[in-house]
Amino acid sequence: LSTVAFAAAAQEFPSKPITFVVPFAAGGPTDTVARQLAETMRKHLNNATIVVENAAGAGGTIGANKVARAAPDGHTLLVWHIGMAAAPALYRKMPYKPLEDFEYLGIINDVPMTLVGKPQLPSNTYRDFENYIRANQGKLNLGHAGLGSASHLCGLMWQYAVKLDKSMATIAYRGTAPAMNDLIGGTIDVMCDQTTNTTQQIEGGRIKAFAVTTAKPLSDHPILRHYPSLQEMGLKDFNLTIWHGMYAPKGTPTPVLNRLNEALRASLRDPDFVQKQKALGAIVAAPNDKRVTPEGHKAFVASEMAKIKAVVDAAGQYAD
Ligand code: MLT
Repeated sequence: LSTVAFAAAAQEFPSKPITFVVPFAAGGPTDTVARQLAETMRKHLNNATIVVENAAGAGGTIGANKVARAAPDGHTLLVWHIGMAAAPALYRKMPYKPLEDFEYLGIINDVPMTLVGKPQLPSNTYRDFENYIRANQGKLNLGHAGLGSASHLCGLMWQYAVKLDKSMATIAYRGTAPAMNDLIGGTIDVMCDQTTNTTQQIEGGRIKAFAVTTAKPLSDHPILRHYPSLQEMGLKDFNLTIWHGMYAPKGTPTPVLNRLNEALRASLRDPDFVQKQKALGAIVAAPNDKRVTPEGHKAFVASEMAKIKAVVDAAGQYAD
């Protein structure tokens, strides 16, 4: 494409509805971020129509692959998270190359996680909860959104940190929205899920919460401040936050990528989006966060990939 054609491409962009592909079931934490972002970001793209399409399966890698193979015209984008860095450590065969098959548009936010349990669990404090799990090894199950999902990674890290003799039985779902239904119903016992999906359930008393996965407690959040961090509970160095980012297929024209990055960065500064995310415990990336640039985002994911590989290699026995 010549420069003139490129410039024209950017001018008329978007020329049709934009699709945000969410690689998990509707209603879960990733879907929540994507829908809230779409509502704001469209204002910075001439009020374009943005549709959210849920393409679940295989811990998010099916949806990611769908975008990797999509037409590189900027109208099909991926909204995903730490799974972009975690999946390669857990899948022997990957359908795409994370660092080569995508254009990195920028980081969206950082979302803390909560260790939560079914309402029937007899424990009410983290200490009781950990003792109960230890005393009932082999009898309790953990729900997650598939190998390489944030909920799977957190479950693996937590079991490794508390050194369970036997790894918990796990049940994989197409997202933590369906998993949450089963936690509320008592079919599954435990889950580690993002505050974007647990805050309202905790507030409504439909699930029990025991701890947050961030290094420090979330003391400025009206609901989540009541729970200790796992580090405070003795799991030293435990510190997990789920970042979300946006991706386009490799080969999307640069002027279109720049236009999308601008619209993303404008959305991150939008008080309405920031507030909605904050209410769910999520921290929108600050304007000066270098991860909101394509280069910074890609470098960050590459560094996360190495970190997570080391964690999974050490905690492999819990990665069933
Ligand atoms: C996960 O990785 O656990 C996903 O975020 C779950 C989801 O978004 O449904």
